Formats: sequence, structure tokens, C-alpha cells
Amino acid sequence: MGIFIPEDKISEIRNTADVVDIVSEVVLLKKAGRNYVGLCPFHSEKTPSFTVSPEKQIFYCFGCGVGGNVFSFLMKQEGISFPEAARMLAKRYGIALPIQKISPEQKRRITEKESLLDINRQAMDYFCNALHNSSAGTKAVSYLKERGITQDVINCFNLGYAPGGWDNLLNFFVKKGISPVFLETSGLVLSRKNKNGYYDRFRDRVVFPIIDVAMQVIGFGGRVLDDSLPKYLNSPETPIYNKSRSLYGLHLAKRKCRESDTVYIVEGYLDLLALYQHGVENVVATLGTSLTSEHIRLLKGYCRKMILVYDSDVAGIKAAERCIDIFWKEHVDFRKEYVDTRIIILPAGHDPDSYIFKFGSGAFVDAANTAPGIMSFLIDAAIKKHGLAVEGKIRVISDLKAPLSAINDRMARSLYIKEVSEKIGVDEGSIMEKVRDMSDRKQAGQKKPTGVHHIALEGFPKTGTLNSESDRGIHATENRLERQILTMMLQFSEILPEIKKRNIIEKFKDNTLKSIGSMILYRRVGNSNKQISDILAFSDDKEKRSLIAHLAIGDDIWDREGCLRLISQYEASRNRRENSLLEKIKAAEQNNDNELLLELLRKKQNQARKRH
Ligand code: UTP
Ligand code: MN
Repeated sequence: MGIFIPEDKISEIRNTADVVDIVSEVVLLKKAGRNYVGLCPFHSEKTPSFTVSPEKQIFYCFGCGVGGNVFSFLMKQEGISFPEAARMLAKRYGIALPIQKISPEQKRRITEKESLLDINRQAMDYFCNALHNSSAGTKAVSYLKERGITQDVINCFNLGYAPGGWDNLLNFFVKKGISPVFLETSGLVLSRKNKNGYYDRFRDRVVFPIIDVAMQVIGFGGRVLDDSLPKYLNSPETPIYNKSRSLYGLHLAKRKCRESDTVYIVEGYLDLLALYQHGVENVVATLGTSLTSEHIRLLKGYCRKMILVYDSDVAGIKAAERCIDIFWKEHVDFRKEYVDTRIIILPAGHDPDSYIFKFGSGAFVDAANTAPGIMSFLIDAAIKKHGLAVEGKIRVISDLKAPLSAINDRMARSLYIKEVSEKIGVDEGSIMEKVRDMSDRKQAGQKKPTGVHHIALEGFPKTGTLNSESDRGIHATENRLERQILTMMLQFSEILPEIKKRNIIEKFKDNTLKSIGSMILYRRVGNSNKQISDILAFSDDKEKRSLIAHLAIGDDIWDREGCLRLISQYEASRNRRENSLLEKIKAAEQNNDNELLLELLRKKQNQARKRH
């Protein structure tokens, strides 16, 4: 919800709320030195690596790399936005938030959303009541029973029944004084073509309420009880319902997703219910749309392993291709900890619902355990489709070059290229060339990347020369030094004037680290602990917050002399790099100065020869 909370209230909440308090509600914390440790609530682990610092008011998990302050913790834990987290904390600590400060337009939107949620909840109760307590409802119950759904699951998911007739729900609400115009916004009723009057959207259907992680009823789906069409009707998009951001069943699945670090993604309401009923509770369903990056982002808050379940190769391939795009192209995680995505294609004629009823949960879990990763699946699917004759191989490569080029992690990409090369017997170089063509074309059409995205988007080096071992070595050292410098700046604020004076941050190579560095300089305040919480509050990006928490959480001991040594060491390393031949080659290459480039390359060759 877009609620405006004034800056001074945010800092009041920040100064009052205690991260140890809030974390303790869900994690059993034990004192360990100056910090507390416990089992991470965001991934499954047996030994505690989740660390909370009461002094710095931050947390960081050394297992999964998530970190931040009290706001970030609540946002992740509850799957809510920053203002929602702030509101929760304010309520808990008795801090009054001025509601009058929002603009009339904002206020109207908030009220509208709250009213829509309220209407939906009442509608859900109405449908439930109709299922259980009306004579027409019994045939809906029979239908569900015929489909093998138990009473438990019916109750768990608040399933309901929309009676036949054109205006049952409409009249129910009109009697309560709710205007049909508003009901139309909720999507529960539609206005008649001739514009005089309204009618119910869901008629004589089983109703599936769609509930989000905050337990709000955001929309509905409805299925006919026979073979008539359309088989399913769904709420339209409304101010509270966005299909590409909602997943059916997540409110019940989230706990198991976290525990097992895995989620199953299916397409249908009844597929989900069937799996859930067979004990596979970590399952969500997309709502008549294809999987979006927002779905993935939402799920990433709960687990790292995602298993897509599809009932045909065609649908599976389409979904897998989209996934590769979503997972790899947009991947900006500095820890390079990728989501593990797998895919199950069920035997012909089965969907998850029919499969699990016929073969049981054991067979399903077996299928999950042997499910291939999505890229391997795409490789095999392309080979199956085109065969391995010469023509076939060409088509296989052409099918795979888009997904391969979407993978922006060089190592992962070259491993997959190797897999393709081995499977079809074409040398890696030729495949790589095709893929590189594709990336070049894509990048040419892309906006200039900014900030952290930059790291993720860099393609293959233009020539092999720039990727030599020594070059990577310098790079790794610099990255390590840059991280150390940030840690020092976060933990020992006395050093900041020196950093500023010597322009250290400007020299940073890593864009993410650089932007954190300038943030620290910009937000400079007296005390180090205060400073950490200040910078976390100022940082708008989840990944950056985790990184800052990571850098800050240690209890390193700094003295001025050691700090100065670190700074000098970094400067020396930067200078070496600037003078290095490689750097010159890179510059010549970028400037398209071919003459100079040739000369430099020749020099490099000589050096190498001398060394041998
Ligand atoms: P399916 O046609 O695969 O149906 O649609 P299903 O889930 O197996 O349902 P049953 O077993 O026949 O009852 C998959 C999903 O696509 C959406 C629904 O979300 C459905 O669960 N869908 C399908 C619609 O939105 N509208 C339709 O008309 C059909
Ligand atoms: Mn089905």
C-alpha cells in the first residue's frame, strides 16, 4: 500500500525499534560474544549462521547472504513493503503516525484499496456460506468430492460456491448499502451491455479465493461444475489485484517453502489443491498468466530452488525459455548465488492433479528429485526435436543461442556451451561464436546499464588476451581491498576524512562497492554504529543492504596506522594496474586504435616468450 510516512517518523521508528526484539519473535537467538546467533529463517540450516548485532542494529546470515536492518528483516520475513514494515513497527512501539499528512488523492486510493479488500473478504464469506449452507451448494461440494478434494482442503483454502442466478451477490451487497459502481471496480459484478443495471461475474461456479501473503483476499477464480465454457473465470486486474505479481496458494505454501528451500510451480488451481492434499504443501500456481520476473522475485524471498511442473513439452519449453530470460538476464545478485530452477514434464495425458492421484506423492517426489535443470532440459528438448543430422544440429544451435546468450554468468554459460558441444558433437568455439553474435545484437539494443546492473551485463571479452590469469588476479585483489576499505569506513568512521582527501572511492573499480562508498562519505555522522544504521536506511536496494550488513557485521579492530597501510596498499595496486600493459591494451581496444593495439599485443607476446 502506498502510504506516506514522514522522514522524522521513520527515524523515530528506527531509533526505537530493536532488531534483536523483532528477530527474537521468529528466531531463537543465543548470545555469542557481542552478537546473537540463531538458525536463519530464510534458508534451511543445521548450524546457526544468522547473526544479529545489537550495537549496530543489523543482521546478516553467513549462510545465505541476506542482511539488513530491522525494516529489511520484517520486509523479508513478512513479504511486505517498506511502508508496511514501518507501519507494523510503529504500531508495535506505540509511535503514532500522522494520517492527515497524506494528500487527498493518496487518501482516496488507500481508502479505496481498504474498501475493496473488505468487499472481497465479505464476498469470500458469502461464497463459503453458500457452499456449506445452501441446497445448491451441495452439488458444488459433491463436485469437489468427486475431484478427490477433502473437506480439510476445502476449509484450508476457503473454497466457496457462487450460486446460479444473475444477481445474488449483487443484491447481498446492495442491501448492505454498497454501490454497484464500486462493486464493478472490485470485479465481482459487471455492468450490462445496455448500461442499465449490473450482474454477478461468478454464477454457478466453485470459487477459489486468491489470498496474498498478508492474508488479504485480493481476487477470485471460479470453475464450472461441468464441461461448459469458459471453464474458468477470474477476477480482472483491480487496484488490489495484479496477476503478474500474485501466486495462488503462496499464503499457505510459504512456511514449507522456507523449510524445504523449494517451491513447486504449477498452472492450475486444482493441480495445486491435489499436490497440497498429497502432502506437497510447498506449491503455488500462476493465475492464468505465464511466469513473470515479479513472481520469481516474490518466491526468492522464501526459497532458492524452484521446480516448474508442466504437462507437455511445448508448454514446458515455453516456460523454461522465459525462465532463463528472467533468471539470468536480470540476475544482479552480487553473491552470484543463483536460483536453482528445475522442470518436470509429466507423462502425456497427465497434469499434476491427475498424476498425483494416480501415482501418489512418492512418484511425484521422485520425479522432482531427478528433474533436470531448465537449461539442460532445453538442450535435450532441442535435440529431441531436431535430431542429430547435420541440418538438425544447425537447428539445435539456433534454438539454443537465445537462452544461452541470456545467461550472463560466464562460467555457467561456458559450462552449458560445453554440454551442448558434447551432446551434439560441434566444437565449443563455433557454438560460442553464435551465442556471442546474439549477445552483441541484444546489447546493442539495450539501454546503457547503470549501477549494479553493469556487473551482470558485461558480455564476453572482445579478445582472449584480456582474460589472462594475472589480469583476473589483480582484479580479485582489488575487489578484496575495496571491500576491506568499505568495512573499515563502516566500522571506523575516524578514517573518513582521509578517504575523502585521497579520493579513494573515485578509484574504485566495482560499481556497487563504489556507490556504497560514496553513500558512506555522503551520510557521514559521528558514531560508527549510528552510521551503519543510517546508511542502511538510506539504501534503497535489497542486495546492497545485504552487502552493507555483510561488510559491517564483523568485529574488526581498527587503528589509524593499520588503516593508512590498507589505503596505501590499495593505491599501489591501482597504480600498478593503470600502468599495466593489459590496461593499455584495453584502452587501445576501446578507442579502436588498431595500430597501437597491434604494437601492444606484440609487446605482450614478447613478454610471454621471454618468460618461457
Ligand atoms: P487447465 O485447462 O489446464 O485446467 O487450466 P485445470 O487446472 O487442469 O483444471 P481442471 O482440472 O480441468 O479443473 C489451467 C489453469 O489455467 C487457467 C486457470 O487458472 C486454470 O487453473 N484457466 C484455464 C483460465 O483462467 N481460464 C480457462 O478458461 C481455463
Ligand atoms: Mn486438471
